[in-house]
Order: sequence, then C-alpha cells, then structure tokens
Amino acid sequence: MEIRNLLKSYQERVDHHLQKCINKDSIDPVLQESMQYSLFNGGKRIRPALIYMVNAMLGSSHEQADSAAAAIECIHSYSLVHDDLPAMDDDDLRRGKPTCHIAFDEATAILAGDALQCLAFELISSDDKLTAETRLNLIQKLSHASGHQGMVVGQSFDLRNVGNSLSLERLEAMHQHKTGALLTCSVQMGAICAGLTDQKQLAALAEYSNAIGLAFQVQDDILDIEGDSAVIGKPQGSDLEQNKPTYPALLGLEGAKLKLQQLHQQALSALDVFGEDASELKALADFIVHRDH
Ligand code: IPE
Ligand code: IPE
Ligand code: MG
Ligand code: MG
Ligand code: MG
Repeated sequence: MEIRNLLKSYQERVDHHLQKCINKDSIDPVLQESMQYSLFNGGKRIRPALIYMVNAMLGSSHEQADSAAAAIECIHSYSLVHDDLPAMDDDDLRRGKPTCHIAFDEATAILAGDALQCLAFELISSDDKLTAETRLNLIQKLSHASGHQGMVVGQSFDLRNVGNSLSLERLEAMHQHKTGALLTCSVQMGAICAGLTDQKQLAALAEYSNAIGLAFQVQDDILDIEGDSAVIGKPQGSDLEQNKPTYPALLGLEGAKLKLQQLHQQALSALDVFGEDASELKALADFIVHRDH
C-alpha cells in the first residue's frame, strides 16, 4: 500500500479509538470541545502509525496497540497546544487552523493540554486487553519520554536558548529530547504491545527510532524555512523570527539537508535485520524525510 494511504488507514483507526474515549458528556462542554478541537484537526498521526507498524511487524494484532496509539497522540497533541501558547512559541496557526488558545482562550488551552495528558495514562491503564505488566511497561516508557527527561526538558532547553548559538552536540541533545523522545517511545511502545524480548531486534529498533526521531525535527526545521504556511499548516518562518536554535541556523540549509540524508540512510540500514517485514517502517522513514507538512 502507498504510504499516504497506509498512514490514512492508521489515522482512521486511532481517530475512531480516540472518538470513543472522548465523546462522553462533560459538565464543561467547552473543555470537551477544546480537547476535541486540538485532537481532531488533521494531525498526521505519525506516532500512532509507528506504534501500529512496529506491533504489526512483530506479528501482533492492531487491537493490542489501540490504547497505546491513542495515548501517544494525546500526549503529542497536548505538547502542541502548550507549544503554541503565548508564553512559549506564541503561534496562532496549527494544522491549518487557529491554535487552541486563539480559538478558545489561554486558560482553556492550558487546561485542554492538562486534560489530554491525563487522558493518555487513563487510556492505557484501563485497557483490559493488555496484561497489568504490559500496561505498566507502557506507562513507564510514556511517562519517561514525556517528562523532565524527555519532551518537556527538550522544550525547556529550546526556550531557554532562544537567541543563543549552540554547539552541534547541544542542539542534537535538544532535538533528541524535544521531538525524538516521543518518536523513540512510539517504537518502544509498539514493541511492548507485541511482547518483543529479542535483544538484537530491540537494539535495531532503537537505532531506527533514534535516527528518525532526529530526522523528523531536522525536516521540521527545514520546513520552517522552505515550507509554505498553507501546506505546513503553521506559520512559516516562526523559528527565524524568534531566533530559535535550529539545524539550519547552525549548519546552514545545505548542511541540515546533508544531515537529514545521513539519518535517513542510518534508519534504513538499521531495519535490515527484519528483511521484508520492515517495509512499512522503511516507507515511513522515507515519508518523514521527504514530507512537505
Ligand atoms: C509537529 O509534529 C511538532 C514537532 C514535534 C516537530 P507533527 O509534524 O507530527 O505534527 P502533526 O501531529 O502532524 O500536526
Ligand atoms: C515542538 O517543536 C515540539 C513539541 C511540541 C514537543 P516546534 O516548536 O518546532 O514545533 P512546531 O514547529 O511548532 O510544530
Ligand atoms: Mg517549540
Ligand atoms: Mg512551535
Ligand atoms: Mg518547528
């Protein structure tokens, strides 16, 4: 199947699962609406797709991965709602629509993010298709990747270094946390859902996920320069305007593109141990480096 169609099918699957979880009567319809607004607005669902792909490659059914896929998207969407707030990147366009704090208000956006974060852990912990041990492993990985040793510290480092010129090592560490952590975690969660214990395969998946995790943010930084707002669905030039630490800022646009190619090759080679079974993950790596939004 072509990668766009494949992504669409995983997108529909995770959206269906998310709709079931969030479509409950709330005593505060505005909060519910702001959560739905932030979740169902055309996200690519790359993190859920990674979970489904790894889980399926290892021979496990999609049902085993539904709650993990929904949970990672809740965390990702919450991170975007907060990332766009005036106190952070102060952006007013996300996924082609006004950001949550513009469509609602700042306090509602903060609360929608908070509630999405909690929902992630509720979804996994209450999934009775998974053993207690699997649920605990998933929660441990997701909480670690989301928090002060994962995405949040990456965001903190990003904001603290606006206007600074960073060494390549520090920039890479920032990217690995800010964006890489949730992508790496998606691969690990797919492996947990499938019950993978083979160390060689786990190491290969770790190498793949580290490479695509970094590549994803390198391409995001490139798109901030070369992308078209109407296609990327967020303001082009936001990083430049705010003097954000990015790959192109440090290596130049061509240097960033070279880095992207190297990471792409690294990701593909890491999958060799899985042979033909890795075709979906390979196609996703191609999509990540060539994506235009
Ligand atoms: C955007 O992530 C934010 C970064 C981590 C760079 P995505 O490009 O996956 O955003 P959506 O979910 O498709 O909108
Ligand atoms: C955001 O990175 C990463 C997270 C939300 C964790 P960016 O600030 O570069 O993302 P965009 O460009 O706003 O999507
Ligand atoms: Mg940001
Ligand atoms: Mg941003
Ligand atoms: Mg960006």
